[in-house]
Amino acid sequence: MKNIRIAIDGPASSGKSTVAKLIAKDFDIIYLDTGAMYRVATYIALCNGLDDSDGAGIIRLLKENPIAFGHSPEGQLVYTGEVDVTHAIRQNDVTNAVSKISAVPEIRAYLVDVQREIASHGGIVMDGRDIGTVVLPDAELKIFLVASVEERAQRRYKENLQKGIDTDYDLLKFEISERDRKDSTRQVSPLKQASDAILIDTTGISIAEVVSTIEDYARKI
Ligand code: C5P
Repeated sequence: MKNIRIAIDGPASSGKSTVAKLIAKDFDIIYLDTGAMYRVATYIALCNGLDDSDGAGIIRLLKENPIAFGHSPEGQLVYTGEVDVTHAIRQNDVTNAVSKISAVPEIRAYLVDVQREIASHGGIVMDGRDIGTVVLPDAELKIFLVASVEERAQRRYKENLQKGIDTDYDLLKFEISERDRKDSTRQVSPLKQASDAILIDTTGISIAEVVSTIEDYARKI
């Protein structure tokens, strides 16, 4: 299991990161949250008054302030340079702007290179939108996680409440649908199921069940 590469793709709030973290722990392999990387690019753009017309400027800032991950008892930490942006990248301003920044081809090319470099060191579970189709097309196991938009909005709503992020449920549901639409219809690396990915609908299924289903597939490889 040490060298397995698992790609988990799917729409917003389908449970990818929760499931991926648990699998990484059980198999003692790296977990890479690629969504966090696009969120950092978006955060940097917003802080510096840059938009999707300046991919080169955003990449320059990303190179000057590299994305790094750390750990705390509360979970994963995300940095750009020395700055801890773990919470800032989950705020509404970043969430609502991320689809635009992640559609910039140069930014995708840059981050995909970084992601492949991280994956070259051994076993990994990576979650995102284009892992099975673009980043790791030869991953040993590809999963496409989906759930109804209502269930995904409910999950994110509860998560936001726990984190103290002020949230309107109907608006949240609309924003999730919009993000899925933008991520699925963009020109470069749109969100789509790889032809060899296994589809799992997590609506009404517990996290533990989803994890054990994926781990069973992995053990059969
Ligand atoms: O996974 P998360 O919801 O944090 O991802 C935030 C955004 O980053 C997505 O809505 C999408 O626009 C972008 N993304 C992407 N490709 C990935 C991961 C995330 O375009 N591999």
